[in-house]
Amino acid sequence: MPVNLTSHIRPEAHGCSPFQIKRYVEKILDEFEVCEYNVNILITDDLEIRHLNKKYRNKDSATNVLSFPFSDGLDENLSFLPIKELGDIVISLETAKKEAIRYREHLSFRIYWLVTHGVLHLLDYDHERSDEEARKMLAKEQELLSKFYKYRRQTMPQLAINVDHVSTIRQARGGSEPDPVLAASLCEIAGASGIVVHLREDRRHIQDSDVYLLRKTVKTKLNLEMGANPEIIKIALDVVPDMITLVPEKRQELTTEGGLDVISQKKKLATVVKKFNKAGIPVSIFIDPDLEQIKASADIGAKFVEIHTGRYSDALTEDQQDDEFELIAAAADEAYQQGLVVNGGHGLNYHNTGRIASLDAIDELSIGHSIISRAVFSGIERAVKDMLKIINNGSMQLY
Ligand code: PXP
Repeated sequence: MPVNLTSHIRPEAHGCSPFQIKRYVEKILDEFEVCEYNVNILITDDLEIRHLNKKYRNKDSATNVLSFPFSDGLDENLSFLPIKELGDIVISLETAKKEAIRYREHLSFRIYWLVTHGVLHLLDYDHERSDEEARKMLAKEQELLSKFYKYRRQTMPQLAINVDHVSTIRQARGGSEPDPVLAASLCEIAGASGIVVHLREDRRHIQDSDVYLLRKTVKTKLNLEMGANPEIIKIALDVVPDMITLVPEKRQELTTEGGLDVISQKKKLATVVKKFNKAGIPVSIFIDPDLEQIKASADIGAKFVEIHTGRYSDALTEDQQDDEFELIAAAADEAYQQGLVVNGGHGLNYHNTGRIASLDAIDELSIGHSIISRAVFSGIERAVKDMLKIINNGSMQLY
């Protein structure tokens, strides 16, 4: 990885993750055709940046950003070195926050601006050399920011709750309790922003009557999850949910096992999406964190994608989870850049959701099993509120 990012503090409400900053800097390096060079970025506080400013620049004050080009002060040609270094950038989050308030900017924008400024210094831009150089550097900063920085969500992701498993318990006895419609209302009262149900071909949990009733009772947003199956499509067009999510569906599976392969069924899915778009029902497609599937989903007219977080949730080691997280972050970023609304879900629980909530390209999380399981012991209201707290805290962390 050519860009290394270290953070000495856990900032609140920054609106950007280290992974996204790294990807942003990589895009700049690519633009300048120097992507084989390393850049090190440290995010720290005023105390540390002041110390560095004094030590290396003889200035005893905190500042917003410091850049240390690797070749500074060296006459030799360093091309013989096995690792190519551009240099180090240090950013004070404390100063960045003060500046964001002073200039009425979102903190995320301020941080990206400082990162851009720091990288350009490493690339030999210097606003202190002359007015002409200052103009050149400012123009380049604006160009790079408008090309690669996209302003994102400022708030926490929304929480849509899947109440399928309330029905699973009801179906175990074939009676009328517990009622998923009542569960959905309680979730909304506790703060959920949407209700999700999956009307499966085998009707193992949610029944047609549930969907019709939910259409009447849900006050937030009803998202109907479904396979692209003619019988279910007919019901969906009759119910008119607020949106649908297309998922792959196999009869034998315990739960949805993977994302939809849009690429291999592009023509068929395009027809389905067109039908729903014509009926005014936006379509989301549940896909693995795969850049090609995202592109295919955008091509066939989907408005949303839901990125499958199952492999991340099931990871057995920290390394495996890190790898899956990076795939999700890259996929969310790409889908956002393509103009899709990005949701995420599957297997998320009270331990692994915070990190996903930190991704500011993600608009909504769809969570079912863990919330309903906890509700058995704590009640629905507590279970929903605990999850909302985790999402809120997670959305303010750097991962
Ligand atoms: N998103 C989709 C597309 C799903 O199929 C499911 C499971 O029904 C979920 C989210 C919720 O997953 P979980 O129940 O593991 O939270």
